[in-house]
Amino acid sequence: MRILGIETSCDETGIAIYDEEQGIMSHRLYSQIAVHADYGGVVPELASRDHVRKTIPLIKEVLAEANLTPQDLDGVAYTAGPGLVGALLVGCSIGRSLAYGWDLPAVPVHHMEGHLLAPMLEDDVPEFPFVALLVSGGHTMLVRVDGIGHYELLGESVDDAAGEAFDKTAKLLGLDYPGGPVLAKMAENGTQGRFKFPRPMTDRPGLDFSFSGLKTFAANTIAKEDSSEQTYADIAYAFQEAVVDTLAIKCRRALEQCGLKRLVIAGGVSANTSLREKLEAVTGKLGGNVYYPRPEFCTDNGAMIAYAGMQRLKAGVSADLTFKATPRWPL
Ligand code: KG4
Ligand code: ZN
Repeated sequence: MRILGIETSCDETGIAIYDEEQGIMSHRLYSQIAVHADYGGVVPELASRDHVRKTIPLIKEVLAEANLTPQDLDGVAYTAGPGLVGALLVGCSIGRSLAYGWDLPAVPVHHMEGHLLAPMLEDDVPEFPFVALLVSGGHTMLVRVDGIGHYELLGESVDDAAGEAFDKTAKLLGLDYPGGPVLAKMAENGTQGRFKFPRPMTDRPGLDFSFSGLKTFAANTIAKEDSSEQTYADIAYAFQEAVVDTLAIKCRRALEQCGLKRLVIAGGVSANTSLREKLEAVTGKLGGNVYYPRPEFCTDNGAMIAYAGMQRLKAGVSADLTFKATPRWPL
């Protein structure tokens, strides 16, 4: 089975072809970061327009690179939600229409299921069941995964997502959107122990998260301190350490609660080196393992949508001739 995947839920146009035997045959990612940078965040209307501009040319490119024609495909998968409604509608309408024109099944995919299954694109594939930590710009979730489509939400953020907290704190430190990776870089020069940020919601039972207080804590610290490069690096360090520690405490709790040793991390923030190291230590102590996608598949991409779409199609899921974008959609 060979599937074309289309991802347009936010600010990246991701297109890929996934083949059941050969794996990823080709993939393209176009990031709109430059389009939105001046506005300090994603401007939905500009995102939609840029997806309109990029989606079909990138589809042509991946087909050409894989040396395939539409007749060589078995289905077209597209992200149907959650995300920005206008951006989603671009991928949904193009995906549904191409599938109709090419006489192929059309498969709507849940964006977070795409992230959740992204580690399956790697050589070292986790066996079911496992616990997954999904950490992106829009979501922070702990999920028990018993198989494809068998997901139990264990906990989630009650306010800001982890990536959102990174981006908002980065903005306070004068960094451009999306500041998460830049803040992480800055933290490399930070001093351990100069500032101590709280570990929100770790002193009570449960697996939910809250990250908005950390941003406020960062704002208050910045207001009190000097604005030297070292101070900013120290604040970045303390902020990152607090997010990573908090995530790690809840991951260990989730693994213990489920009696499992395998942990999957995915979503943009799973590219964070400090988080990976910490979670490796946590699972190591439990005698388990942590699995994650390569950095380029941690953030939004078409390969994870093609892969998840293939699994859905195998399970008998495909769309009728209508299509629907679902901006809010529980996993
Ligand atoms: O999964 P993703 O590409 O898009 C969403 O679905 O949200 O995640 C993007 C988020 C942004 O908030 C970005 O700042 C964050 O992931 N991110 C990072 C790192 N790389 C990306 N946060 C911390 N450290 C990183 N290395
Ligand atoms: Zn995402």
